[in-house]
Amino acid sequence: MRTKIVAGNWKMNKTLAEGVALCKELQEALEGKKLFCKVIVAPPYLHLASVASVLNKGTVALGAQNCADQESGAYTGEVSAAMLASAGVSHVILGHSERRAYYHEDGALLAKKVKMAMAHGLTPIFCVGEQLEDRDKERHFEIVEEQLEQSVLSLSAEEFGRIIIAYEPVWAIGTGRTATPQQAQAMHAHIRQTIANKYGTEVADNCSILYGGSCNASNAKELFANPDVDGGLIGGASLEVAKFLPIIEAFT
Ligand code: 13P
Repeated sequence: MRTKIVAGNWKMNKTLAEGVALCKELQEALEGKKLFCKVIVAPPYLHLASVASVLNKGTVALGAQNCADQESGAYTGEVSAAMLASAGVSHVILGHSERRAYYHEDGALLAKKVKMAMAHGLTPIFCVGEQLEDRDKERHFEIVEEQLEQSVLSLSAEEFGRIIIAYEPVWAIGTGRTATPQQAQAMHAHIRQTIANKYGTEVADNCSILYGGSCNASNAKELFANPDVDGGLIGGASLEVAKFLPIIEAFT
């Protein structure tokens, strides 16, 4: 059975002290609990090394929110995949719609980042998702296929077997407007079919596909109950243990 996952994307929130405190609190809340999903937190770069030292990796895995497309060298402001791995990071969110929109990351650049992350043993959580106008024009399936095609469908089957996909409709991110369970399931099934067409059903069946976009304690259970929704990538609700824990516990 494929892995169920709840991952928290903190985005640009929390000071260092607040971030460490949040991780400690989360760690304590989960300690000794029987979990039915893998838990990942993705704090800002600055927090990673400190947070790594308070997390018990057996319970909570550590993710970054981005990585450089280059190995090392004169790239001011960038953080490499090797640096992340050396700080205890195991996962990296790539292709988030905020990075695509505000930092102009395109499919070709993201393909390089995915390769670089994997070369250093990091597991990409690769995000796809349409804008509202794409959905209104009924182009959502096409857009998401294109995003997969541009950045991850050139991986070998063995490589693809190691990545996680997150479907995050842009119109649902931070808006309080969630995709309906039916909309999420339809897109997740479409993504899985696209993967199957390229790599076969075994790779597709083993790929964890997460939903992201205003996922919270009250809608998580219904979203995760869908056969092709393997968990969530959580923004706002991952910033407080009281909100994040019930999402993790939506898997029972
Ligand atoms: P929200 O949960 O705040 O809508 O954010 C979703 C997201 O972008 C996670 O990567």
